[in-house]
Amino acid sequence: MMRSWLAGVLAVLLAGCGGSNSYTGPSGDIPFDPLRPTPGEPAVVSPYTGSDPLVLEAQSRLSTGADLQRKVVLRTCGPTNGVCHNQKEYPDLHTAGTFAAAINAPCNVQAGSYEGVYDRCERLGDRFKFKEQSFREIEIGWYAVVLGAYVEYPDNSVPPSDAAGFHLHLREPVPLAQGRAHWGTGTFIRNFINAQGNVEALSFASYNTRWWVLDDGRHLFGEVHDYQRDAVDALLSVGILQGDQNRNGVFGAREGKAVPLLNPGKPEESYLVARMRGHMQGEPIPGSRMPLANQPPSIPDMLALMCFIEGLDPNAAQWNLSSAIDYARCSYIANPQALSLVGTGVTWRGRVQPILQSSCGGCHGGASPQGGLDLLSANAWTRLRQASAQNANLKLIDSGRPETSYLWLKLSGDGSILGGRMPVDPLNGTRTLPPEQLADIEAWILAGALEDG
Ligand code: HEC
Repeated sequence: MMRSWLAGVLAVLLAGCGGSNSYTGPSGDIPFDPLRPTPGEPAVVSPYTGSDPLVLEAQSRLSTGADLQRKVVLRTCGPTNGVCHNQKEYPDLHTAGTFAAAINAPCNVQAGSYEGVYDRCERLGDRFKFKEQSFREIEIGWYAVVLGAYVEYPDNSVPPSDAAGFHLHLREPVPLAQGRAHWGTGTFIRNFINAQGNVEALSFASYNTRWWVLDDGRHLFGEVHDYQRDAVDALLSVGILQGDQNRNGVFGAREGKAVPLLNPGKPEESYLVARMRGHMQGEPIPGSRMPLANQPPSIPDMLALMCFIEGLDPNAAQWNLSSAIDYARCSYIANPQALSLVGTGVTWRGRVQPILQSSCGGCHGGASPQGGLDLLSANAWTRLRQASAQNANLKLIDSGRPETSYLWLKLSGDGSILGGRMPVDPLNGTRTLPPEQLADIEAWILAGALEDG
């Protein structure tokens, strides 16, 4: 009964939507194309039928983009989601919606510090010109406000390059004399798309003050008198785009190599992947590696991420997280092992030993090392293979297993340890290593805690 009723409705719907390609009405032919895309319908994907257990695990546990977000991305966000949306340094990925929005989105996430911005995440800067001068607009590299009491510099002086006030660094020198002040209205210009769909340059902010040309002519200093502070606050609040946000002289977007967070079809040029690996195509990425202190992604996790990105259609306007990830046609199934993040680049001599020496050696070294543990000695690596003094059941380092490595438990503040979390801060009794150092030590243990390599 129910079935035939449904079948009837479907038949009516199908008759109404599909079928003929044109409708012939009483007044002649009306061209009409009824074949519309059906939004939200997952693409049909043939499953992987090979025998690689890593691919099979990925396919069964992480079959869609939504699984990937929920089981991998969200997990790496940390217990309180802190990494994913409390810290400015990371893109917000804690919901399926924000994850989908990361596809093709600029990677210029608000950085904790300017050095953390990657050149290929820089956007085109706004442009600057003096209203009163005829020379052309120049792209803005970066700006900074140096705080401090107002100092009146004479008109014919050269203020120091760190003078309190507004500093603007441009891509090219301005053709104005150095060594004297120029009264002028600095205007900030950006391209907008107007209602007609045309690009239009608009000056969206300005600052009228005395300016000096410093250094090589690309550095402008605008004085900020007490009565001008509000004007500068207003200027900063509009959000001037800086073409060289990390201040290293490279204007990332100019080079035409800007990359999005998730680059549809191009996992190797996705900023998110690069941040997990610590490099993009061999070039180091500034900032700490993601995810921080949590479980590093496994090979199937990485396979899901890479195959998901590779399968995204670069020409689509939006992407559906409920579509199946196409493992069968994914190029990464040829060598999933190569996707392992564990231990990449972390060596005992290159990374772990220097951390232990500098953060721990003050107490764990010398004639009577604390806790009976000498981390400065030439035998430190051998010593770490042995049992802990505090818990004779555990080795200090158990190759491949952070969870049974007593040194790791002391560093991560595990509830089972005796004494305090390491390193002890003599001032307030507690301190932790920075998350990227913890992540590297954990990765080194997971990769076998080798002495070299
Ligand atoms: C300010 C001094 C101080 C610093 C710095 C310090 N420790 Fe300790 N460490 C101690 C003291 C004191 C003990 C013994 C008491 C305790 O465990 O709280 C100890 C104990 C340990 C133990 C237990 C030894 C065993 O065999 O069971 C380990 C492991 C350890 N520290 C590792 C580290 C590491 C790794 C660092 C650096 C990241 C570090 N410590 C930095 C003072 C320090």
